[in-house]
Amino acid sequence: MATYPSISHLSIKLFMKKLLIRGGKKLNGTIEITGAKNAALPLMVASILTDEKLTLTNVPHVSDISTMANLLVSLGIGIEMDGMDKDHGNQGRVLIFNASNISNPIAPYELVRKMRASIFILGPLLARMGKAKVSLPGGCAIGTRPVDLHLKAMEKLGAKIEIEGGYVNASVEGRLKGAEINFEKVSVGATENTMMAATLAEGETILHNAACEPEIIDLANCLRAMGAKISGDGTPRVVIQGVEKLHAARHKIVADRIEAGTYAIAAGITDGCIRLKGVEMWVLTGVKEELEKAGLSLTQVEPDVIEVKRISKLIQPVSISTHPYPGFATDMQAQFMSLMAVADGASTIEETIFENRFMHVMELVRMGANIESHGSLAVVKGVAKLTGAEVMATDLRASVSLVLAALVADGETIINRLYHLERGYERLADKLIACGADISILY
Ligand code: EPU
Repeated sequence: MATYPSISHLSIKLFMKKLLIRGGKKLNGTIEITGAKNAALPLMVASILTDEKLTLTNVPHVSDISTMANLLVSLGIGIEMDGMDKDHGNQGRVLIFNASNISNPIAPYELVRKMRASIFILGPLLARMGKAKVSLPGGCAIGTRPVDLHLKAMEKLGAKIEIEGGYVNASVEGRLKGAEINFEKVSVGATENTMMAATLAEGETILHNAACEPEIIDLANCLRAMGAKISGDGTPRVVIQGVEKLHAARHKIVADRIEAGTYAIAAGITDGCIRLKGVEMWVLTGVKEELEKAGLSLTQVEPDVIEVKRISKLIQPVSISTHPYPGFATDMQAQFMSLMAVADGASTIEETIFENRFMHVMELVRMGANIESHGSLAVVKGVAKLTGAEVMATDLRASVSLVLAALVADGETIINRLYHLERGYERLADKLIACGADISILY
């Protein structure tokens, strides 16, 4: 067993600079879906809630996990790696967290600006240590992304919050106190942060208008395994009975539904057939239905294998609007737009979660797509052919939408700024190449 970060547990190629994709290959094969990045991040933070060990298995090898691990190590949390998880056998698939000696409840700007999910430590630190100092994350490429809902919820639980010098200074006398919290807006992160904090609060907390994403259920499952009393997760009303202490647990991270959805589109857009291994259909609720309308079939062929192929000759135009789960996921919007860019007709795509999540539009247009965006609405008129170009994107999902477009484009596409992809997709190029994609990695 090795201690993080004495050796890197990541197999990602950190010096990978560009992808060169030659489009036109039908993708066929099996792709192993990793544990969900967006489940793993709050789960890692949940380790703060106990002085006993938390073991997470099925950890994805993506750079956001390293960023979170670095933050936790800076707080004084020990992280060990174990690779002998029977499901995977890779080093670093299993991380063991030991927060018995938290020495520094501070998340500095240098770390928070790299990853907004750092704000997750606020609730658990308050619950365990009675204090936390976390840098405000600032703006983001896809929207302003305030953290007001996190802060208001902590205040409701009895914390004193002050903003000073770009930092949130939070403290509480004694334990947090259970409360009834109505979120004005559905927020995945604020639901997770509050749920974690409330596990150790005195008395009952009721969350109204809570997020229902599979990642929330996964977090609740892990917290329950640690001894928390939570019910209603996966519905908008979550009830948490605070307990005095949480204990050691071992938890397998749920499959990444966004990675699965992305490769489902790779199968559909190239008219191939891909088996997604390690994922159950329920996590694709909201996205599956729209992919089927577009002419794809998704079949659970084994308990943890979904087969995806195109059954209509041409991709059908489907209009979508993004919504919290079980609606169409905003994290799949860019990829779906690439599919619609080559559909047999026109569709509209509305982004209701983030105000600036159309940065892939102009890059897709450079590849020959016919898309016009007006505010939160994009009108996509499918074209018969896209053409390769040199493109770049400014966030994770926008980048991968360009990869999908490149897989069907005529000629060569060069995708720059691969660090965006590395934040959330484990060995993306390798997985696509194994299914027959023509991709060169340029260093
Ligand atoms: N919002 C507020 N105030 C807050 C918190 C959120 O106004 O205090 C707003 C946001 O600005 C946004 C909406 O509420 O308009 C929903 O944001 P949410 O809090 O649900 O997003 P998040 O928790 O910051 C997570 C994922 C995102 C994903 C969103 C929505 C993680 C680490 N991130 O972010 O994932 O897009 O939920 O599903 O779980 C990605 O993986 O590419 C990604 C951006």
